[in-house]
Parts: sequence; structure tokens; C-alpha cells
Amino acid sequence: MGTADATTTASSALFDPQAILESRVRGAMVRAVPDLASQSPEAIDPMVTASRNAKFGDYQCNAAMGLGKKLGKPPREIAQAIIKNLDLTDIAEPITEANIAGPGFINITLKPQSLSSLLTTMAGASMGFPAPGSLGTAVVDLCGVNLAKQMHVGHLRSTVIGDTLANILQRAGWKVIRQNHVGDWGLPIAMVTSRLIDQAAAGQIDLSKVTLDDLDKAYKAAQRECESDQRGLLMAQRWHMGPKIIAELQAQADGAAEKSERARSVLRRLQTHDKDVMAVWQRISDVTMSACLTIASRLNADVRPEHSAGESSYAEELAPMVAELEKSQVAQISEGALVIRLEDVGLNEPLLIRKSDGAFLYATTDMAAIRRRVQKLGAQRVVYCVDARQSLHFKQVFAGASKAGYAKLPSGQNAVLEHAAFGTILGEDGRPFKTRSGESAKLGELLDQAEAYAFEVITQRSPDMSEDERRSISRTIAVAAIRYVDLSTERIKDYVFSYQRMVSFEGNTGPYLLYALVRIRSIFRKAAERGISTSDLPAPTIAHAAEKTLALALLRYPGVVQDVAKSLEPSRLCAYLYELAGVFSTFFDVCPVLSAASDSERASRLALCKLAEGVLAEGLKLLGIPTLEKM
Ligand code: ARG
Repeated sequence: MGTADATTTASSALFDPQAILESRVRGAMVRAVPDLASQSPEAIDPMVTASRNAKFGDYQCNAAMGLGKKLGKPPREIAQAIIKNLDLTDIAEPITEANIAGPGFINITLKPQSLSSLLTTMAGASMGFPAPGSLGTAVVDLCGVNLAKQMHVGHLRSTVIGDTLANILQRAGWKVIRQNHVGDWGLPIAMVTSRLIDQAAAGQIDLSKVTLDDLDKAYKAAQRECESDQRGLLMAQRWHMGPKIIAELQAQADGAAEKSERARSVLRRLQTHDKDVMAVWQRISDVTMSACLTIASRLNADVRPEHSAGESSYAEELAPMVAELEKSQVAQISEGALVIRLEDVGLNEPLLIRKSDGAFLYATTDMAAIRRRVQKLGAQRVVYCVDARQSLHFKQVFAGASKAGYAKLPSGQNAVLEHAAFGTILGEDGRPFKTRSGESAKLGELLDQAEAYAFEVITQRSPDMSEDERRSISRTIAVAAIRYVDLSTERIKDYVFSYQRMVSFEGNTGPYLLYALVRIRSIFRKAAERGISTSDLPAPTIAHAAEKTLALALLRYPGVVQDVAKSLEPSRLCAYLYELAGVFSTFFDVCPVLSAASDSERASRLALCKLAEGVLAEGLKLLGIPTLEKM
């Protein structure tokens, strides 16, 4: 069938009749009005819509009206010219003058067979996705945890969205390289390392037994002890607050200065890979990463040790890179610091790559990361799943990297650098989500809570299930719930975190979709119980309106995935799956499957159920949601 040919349809939607028609009509418009050929295809709107009334066929093309007006010609004449140039023989009934309604609406009716054969081709051709890796290489920057800090809600989004986009890009035909840009270098890490060295020397801690919680506390304490209360001291002196207070504050400030100096020396020893300091750093890294990767795996996110390429992995590259940028005059000295000016690309803030004290920054490392990802790993696309509050940072770094030539592939082609920015998770009070004690919420605890809520819900629904089974199902529901709320909201928007809502089986939630899939799967279980064969099903015959709606929804799936791979907007896949589940449910209500009127009708409907099961299961898998057989 010609319709599955990527050359005749926009590659983004190989099987969706609407997309096929749009692309064919566009071609016909250009042939009918050659002047249009100078426009980009996106600028030519074929105006194909699903008909509201069956008497006007399945689809309508309304392009002739606008075009007629623009060209000062009767729209009917344009419509005639379009249909003369329109070849739809493989998919629609022949179109003649009789199909032009009113001033110039073209009515299109699909061939009864066409949906059925499109569905069969789609299922047989691995949904029509390009072969794995054939589109090129994409790096996905995800997770991005920081050493000696608990993973908090911000890392929920970078992990879940990053993992999902990586899955989707891969399915859409990219070779995907996941990169966990761990914050594991620089002064703050040196501060906590320095504190732990001192504490271990004083016998206050046993480094072989520290937990991430201990590290988290040490991190905060290290920040505090290195931060002197200079302002307090100045105030105390100014207001003559008494020698005792002044002396106390002075001592504190001196202490902080001393701790800072020690941290700086630890940083220098880290930079020269001093064995003793590195051993402590390694311990911090191991403890943090093992906790972080455990949480990622609980979230069903594919973030493994081999995906880690932390800031430390770029440490050696920074000095030569910066020297080169200075030499080539891509960067200039400004007030003692080294910056890349970006006014010419519309950014007033320059990109700071070396502070006046000689230290490198977060942005310096990100420049090196772009260079490695594009020039060594060969990425045509680099997708950053990072909080929207870092938007300016990425704008600057992308601009800086392109000035430096780091975004140029060995082939000379420019890589596309994309910030898949996301909004903030809010508490029910509308402020950034915190625990009751005011701490930023830890991811592990969030998962525990969601599991507890899910356990309650599942116990209510299925009190007879064994506790083990309920626990195991709750774990899946919790993952589905947490991932789905995060993914179903438009990426850039903030959303309110509510356990009750996300674990609910009603509405646009993860558990609802899990349940929809379980229901389809149970049809096949029942069929097996009744000895009805569900293998070797025929191509479905589309007769009933609800069957047609379901078929059309299923045919949209590959296009939706391709669209998400382009827009980096997983909420569109969520919205699609939610709609599909609803359409399936209507179909199932009005079209008996196991008790269909005839064996052939039953087999045809079972074939539709099988396709729906396949699409829903695959969609959930791309969202990183593990599925269930029963719940
Ligand atoms: N560690 C950073 C943070 O927690 C996120 C890293 C994002 N990735 C990057 N290439 N900058 O904010």
C-alpha cells in the first residue's frame, strides 16, 4: 500500500488518514496553483478536518475558499483544480465534481478497506518508526543530582522527564546517549569534603558507615561554618554592642575564614588528585550515587552508573579549553574575569567562564560538556531536561558554545541544543513543595507516601487480594501516579502535588490508564478461559462508528510519538493515551467483543482490542510506566 511510504506523507504521521490527506492535498494545491511552490510546506494549510456530518463524507478539505480569495478566483474553480491534481486512489473513494459542496468544500470518504489495511500495515511495520539510530545521535541530559545532597522534587522532574524523552527519542529512531551531569566538583563539594576529613580525623564519624542523610547534614553544616557573619560583626561594631558580643562574632568570622581557607586547600588537593582527599571524595560520591540510582530505579528510570558524566569528568579539560578561548579571543577579560560577550546575539549578560580569582564555574563545565557531546559523542541533538529557572544559563551557554564552535559536528553541520525546561512542583498551598518541617521534600519519602496512599486505594478496591499482591501493585501504582502527573502537565507549567489526586483511578491519571490496560488484557484472559482463540486474528473490519473512532485514534499513535520527539512535550503523549483509553471504553461499551454476533465479528473486534492493547502498553512503556496484568 502506497500510504505507508514516507515519501508520499509527512514523515511525522505515516498512518493517520488525516495526516495522509493533508500531505496529499498540499501536493495537489501546489500542482493546481504553481505559485505556491515557492512557499514552505508548513505555510500551505490544506485545511483538512474530520466531517461532523456523515453526509459530507469522513473528511472535508476547505482550502479552496481562502485560496480563491487570495487569487481572486471563484473557490469552486480552485476546488476543481485541486481535485484534478489529487490522487487518493489507495485510500479514498474517487473524488469528482459531485464531491464539491457549496462554494468549494471538498468531501472525502475513505474506502471501507483503507482503515483496516492501514491498521495492519502499521502493526506489521513496527508502527512505521525509522530504524533505531537511523536519525542520528541525541544526548539527553537528565537527573543531574548533586553530591552530598538528597534528591529532592526538582530532580524528580529532571529524572522522569529526561528518562521519558530518552525513551521517546529512541523509539522515534534516534540513537540516545543518556548523560547524568552530576554536580560533583567545585568549592561546595570541597567544603563538605574538608569537613568530613576533619570529622573523621577527630573520630566523630566513621566514613565507611556514613549515609546520604549524614552527608546532607554535613553539607549544610559546611556551608554554614564557611560563611562568616561579616554583616553581623559590622553592625555590632557600629552599634557598640559590647566587647563580648563583638569578640564572639569576630571569633566566628575568623573561624569561617579559616574553614574557607581549608576548603580551598582541599579543592586544590582535589584538583591535583591527592590520594587521601580523593578517597573521601570517592566515598561521598559512592554514597550519593548509590542512593540516587536506587531512587531512579524505583521510579523506573533508566539512569545507571555508566550514564554518569559528572562535572568532575570535565575538570582536566577546563584550563586548556579556557586558555584556548582566551587566545582565540572568543573570550575577553573584563574586570579581571574572563567572559564571552553575547550582546550581538541579543543577550546583555555576558557568559562568565573564569572568575577573577581564577576559579571556573558551572557554565565553564557546561561549555566543555557541549564540546564533548557534539564533537566526541557525535550528538546532532543535545536535550537538557533541567528546571526552567536555569533558562538564562542555557541560553548563554548555548550561545557561548556556538561562538566557540563547540556545537559544530565533525561533518560541519551544527548540532541542535535544546533546553527542555520544566516548571516547579508546588504544594497544595501553591508554594514550592516542601515537607511539613519546611525542608525541601526528599524523593524517597515522596515515593513511600505515594505507595502508602496507593495501598489504601487498592485495599479498598480489592480487599480480598493477598497483602503481598496489594503491596506489589501499590508500588506500580505509585510509580504510575508520580510519573504521570509529572508528565501529563505541560512541561513548562508548575503543578500542584496532591497524592489523593494522582493515585485516583478516575480522571486523567496514571492509575486510570493502568486500569484501562488491565481491562483490555482481561478480555484476552476471559477469551482463553472460554476456549476462544486469540492468535492469528484477521485484519479488523471497520463497520461500527465506535470501531471507526477507535481505528482512527490508533492510527494517530506513531505521529504523536514523532511529534513528542520533536516538541519534547511528553504531555501530548499522555493526552493522546488518555483519549485513546476513553475511545476504547466507548467502543467496548457499545460493541460486544466476546459476545459478538458472529465468529468473524468477534475475531475482528478482538483484533482491534489487540491493537489497542499494543498501543496503550507501548505508550505507557515510553512514559516509563510499568504495567500490570491484574489490579
Ligand atoms: N546539578 C544541576 C542542579 O542540580 C543540574 C545539572 C543540569 N545539567 C547541566 N548540564 N547543567 O541544578
